[in-house]
Amino acid sequence: MVNFDEQLDRKGTNSVKWDEICLKYQEEDLLPLWVADMDFKAPSGVINAYQEMISHGIFGYSATPDSLYEAIIAWEQDHHQLGVTKDNILFFSGVLAGIATAVQAFTEPSDAVLIHDPVYPPFAGILTENKRKIVRSRLLEKDGRFIMDFADMEEKIKQNHVKMVILCNPHNPGGRVWTEEELNQFGELCRKYGILVLSDEIHQDLVFSPNKMTSFFNAGENFADFTVQFTSMTKTFNLAGIKNSVAFAKNPKLHQLLERKQAENFQQEINTFGLVGMEAAYRTGEEWLNELLVYLQKNIETTFTFFEEHLPKAKIMKPEGTYLLWIDFSAYGLTDEELENRLVHEGKVVLNTGISYGPGGQQHMRLNVACSNATLLEGLNRIARVLN
Ligand SMILES: Cc1ncc(COP(=O)(O)O)c(C=O)c1O
Repeated sequence: MVNFDEQLDRKGTNSVKWDEICLKYQEEDLLPLWVADMDFKAPSGVINAYQEMISHGIFGYSATPDSLYEAIIAWEQDHHQLGVTKDNILFFSGVLAGIATAVQAFTEPSDAVLIHDPVYPPFAGILTENKRKIVRSRLLEKDGRFIMDFADMEEKIKQNHVKMVILCNPHNPGGRVWTEEELNQFGELCRKYGILVLSDEIHQDLVFSPNKMTSFFNAGENFADFTVQFTSMTKTFNLAGIKNSVAFAKNPKLHQLLERKQAENFQQEINTFGLVGMEAAYRTGEEWLNELLVYLQKNIETTFTFFEEHLPKAKIMKPEGTYLLWIDFSAYGLTDEELENRLVHEGKVVLNTGISYGPGGQQHMRLNVACSNATLLEGLNRIARVLN
């Protein structure tokens, strides 16, 4: 049994979550429940693989072994019925690096790219950096969860001549695990207007039963013709710092264009730690992941119970996947700035500000529950103390 209750001190390790945030806010002793990494030790199989590498002591250039391709193909087949082959795979130093390269490969400056609102902020960041036009379609809230507004998307696609969409599947920050039907409708809309889909599936393995992950490739007939999927084991197994990911392009033309752009930027070499960690995680991590999902659900329940008792005016979206909770604090009547300041400078607790996810994130916050239950409770108490 993995002991997810273990309290590990991450301070003083250059952790973005624990150390950088104190510099940003010029505060000490902040309790971070923000950026999407977990306060848990990686699976022992990954640590063992690194220990072996370290005792060997040589860290020269490494080729990508066939065994890594095999591990990826097997995991993606067993867990997501993806049916990818070695020829479909490209490695990147992170999902975002892959998406940025794809944006460059498949669109031109000022082309319109559609994203949802709210959505993981770096999508907009990549588009801004690359001078693409951002078109946002607001997600609607129905029965306490996000749904896509197909009429709005179609209208915006037509108006702006959208060339590409970036889909977050499952959705960060809402924790939606889009159903096959929703993805099918989304995909058919894209097909109708000749739009290319980048599907970010980094949260693919963090899905709570009975919800079922549907990879975009599998959501409709020949969706792979106009789709590139991105994923990584770094989110699943808490290895975000090793910066490694894969892109799957089954359409040879898309694969070729993406590979070409990657070569132009000389991004094709992947660091050895990424290769080793990735393979070890795929090969040995399954049991750890199953236990993690149970622990995360417990933390989600803890949060809901706590909010019901102590912060009943806030509305939390029940996540179907991910360890991220999207919380509506509007009933407290604070501006985004007041909410952030109060939590950080009075409560000494850090969540992600909702507004950074798009205009739809006003007066919201995103809470990361991937920490020990004790840390979570301390954070929740800090939130309650300053809002009540
Ligand atoms: C939806 C999504 N995509 C991408 C990333 C970052 O991936 P990477 O570190 O591999 O670039 C994250 C991290 O939280 C994420 O939530």
